[in-house]
Amino acid sequence: MSESAVEWPAVGLTLRVDGHEYPVPQVWIGDSLLAVLRERLDLDEPRDGCSIGECGSCLVTLDGRPAAACLVPAVAAADRDVRTPQDAAFEAAREAVVAANASPCGFCAPALTVAITDLLRRNADPGPAAIREALAGLVCRCAESGRWIEAVARAKEAGVGDGGTRGPAGGDSGEMAVLVIEAGETES
Ligand code: FES
Ligand code: FES
Repeated sequence: MSESAVEWPAVGLTLRVDGHEYPVPQVWIGDSLLAVLRERLDLDEPRDGCSIGECGSCLVTLDGRPAAACLVPAVAAADRDVRTPQDAAFEAAREAVVAANASPCGFCAPALTVAITDLLRRNADPGPAAIREALAGLVCRCAESGRWIEAVARAKEAGVGDGGTRGPAGGDSGEMAVLVIEAGETES
């Protein structure tokens, strides 16, 4: 049988992204959440830097927890709360990143905004070591780490993280194993 003749299993699913519901037909069960967000929903954030879980560029939150969208099967994200860097929840951190010139080329800015917001939700007053540890999972080719620290300080000043919740949906889901980037490490 030729490769083109193989029929891959596909399903229809509904994604809840940034507070909106998107029915997505014919999703191959091997498609990542990142692929569906970018290619089916035409969202250019999160970014796709490696597609294999190594760069952190595709950071989103899933039920309020940061997750590498390239490592989450789209079917596993169905009917859960997905927030991309374009969600209003990350706007203040985005402004801080821009003001600190923490992402000169802009490629890593979306993931950085998600990571900074998550950090300040967990730790209202992180020091430089905690900041470096929290952002260690993000690969950036351009910025100095000092600018990231300044971006966190500006985000804190702007009130990012106030309220102490972990995201729009808050808390841990604990429903299923997904690969999550958190404080520069992965867990499953
Ligand atoms: S695109 Fe690099 S970790 Fe997902
Ligand atoms: S500013 Fe260019 S990759 Fe981070």
